[in-house]
Amino acid sequence: MKKWKINSWKNYPVKHIPEYPDKKELDKVLEKLKSFPPLVFAGETRHLKEQLANVVDGKAFLLQGGDCAESFAEFHPDNIRDTFKVILQMSLVLTYSASLPVVKLGRIAGQFSKPRSEPTETKDGAELLSYLGDNINGIEFNERSRVPDPKRLFKAYSQAASTLNLIRAFSHGGFADLKMVHTWNLGFIKKSPQAKKFKELEDLIADALAFMDACGINSDFNRRLKTVNFWTSHEALLLPFEESMTRVDSTTGEFHDTSAHFVWIGDRTRQLDGGHVEFCKGIENPIGIKCGPTSKPDEIVKICNVINTKNEKGKITLISRFGHDNVGKFLPKLIRAIKKEGLNVVWSCDPMHGNTIKSATGFKTRPFNNVVKEVKNVFSVHQSEGSFAGGLHIEMTGQNVTECTGGAQKISDQDLSHRYHTHCDPRLNASQALELAFLISDEIKKNSQYSKNIAQAAS
Ligand code: PEP
Ligand code: CO
Repeated sequence: MKKWKINSWKNYPVKHIPEYPDKKELDKVLEKLKSFPPLVFAGETRHLKEQLANVVDGKAFLLQGGDCAESFAEFHPDNIRDTFKVILQMSLVLTYSASLPVVKLGRIAGQFSKPRSEPTETKDGAELLSYLGDNINGIEFNERSRVPDPKRLFKAYSQAASTLNLIRAFSHGGFADLKMVHTWNLGFIKKSPQAKKFKELEDLIADALAFMDACGINSDFNRRLKTVNFWTSHEALLLPFEESMTRVDSTTGEFHDTSAHFVWIGDRTRQLDGGHVEFCKGIENPIGIKCGPTSKPDEIVKICNVINTKNEKGKITLISRFGHDNVGKFLPKLIRAIKKEGLNVVWSCDPMHGNTIKSATGFKTRPFNNVVKEVKNVFSVHQSEGSFAGGLHIEMTGQNVTECTGGAQKISDQDLSHRYHTHCDPRLNASQALELAFLISDEIKKNSQYSKNIAQAAS
């Protein structure tokens, strides 16, 4: 095996990384980024890996969610707060039903670059480079905006830094205190059936807290009742940027990509002999691998082996995204291949990317029913294979958008145009996300694998 270096990915073919017309400018920007403070600290990344190791052992559940693509235009504290609130609400629903801690991982604070199905986009006879994410080019359909501009990386870094700063403040500054659970509900879903169910949960929690308080156990006594760990993640797509954020941890001498706690390799860039896999071989972060219908089980096994040479628990999360009607065809084979090799992985389910369709009204959308079906099918396959359905990976927002059809609000094809704000793929809105959490909690209650784990944990 050739020796890994921070830039050895450049010796391998890479897909979905743009050509910058001004290479000198790009080098200057990257050089500057190398001198910027890391966004996360290596010790935090190690802590997340330990939490993910618990997911491998069936002792915790992973919830990963956020934007498909963060944008400069939607950068606002309210949006960050509302995404954070929905993830807290979903986590609470899941923790309560599964009696398991939930590892909270945002697709946030750096989720900008996008692999696109088509390299160019044509409108009214004009053909331009596709939009590749706000850290690369602009979404406006004009020649100037679509040229990859290295300076956008500074803006993306700064947005990621202040997003992370606010998240850290929310996580540790009292907002996430269980006593504050009634403030997590979002105005626009207050009248929905999910809000009613959540209110019931709030009341149960308030009773439990009052009881614990009477026993002398409260948030002054135990900080864990008033703080949460909230981790960040994005697709490690734009390798020049990821390289510039990769630093040696002075305490261990190991390399960490300090742009986020967790990074993943997308379904379109997970070639065994490609630059993205090469880059991820050398960094200590936990790594996600998206597995779609074109993934071959033996190839995924090889990727796991080269990235996780020590078969460390918590290092690899396999994120299946086959599409609701394809789960039975692909997932069992993948599970068996991983099991046969004795590999430690977190099994997470992305019910979004295999269920994207074009609506009759011309919008890219995802029917909520199909999202739910994929989750249910994944749970049932893991149940019959004896593996642990340990995670959920979703594109969602705390805003009242109309991007995915269906759900309790019964969003129709016609409704999609009302509040379709995404810069890339359609996201679940807060109401749909919470509804999904309740449906998963029902699955968890049915699933014997969970009952077994809970029983083991109690014994
Ligand atoms: C994504 O997660 O936004 C994405 C592009 O997913 P995938 O690589 O699974 O297509
Ligand atoms: Co997406």
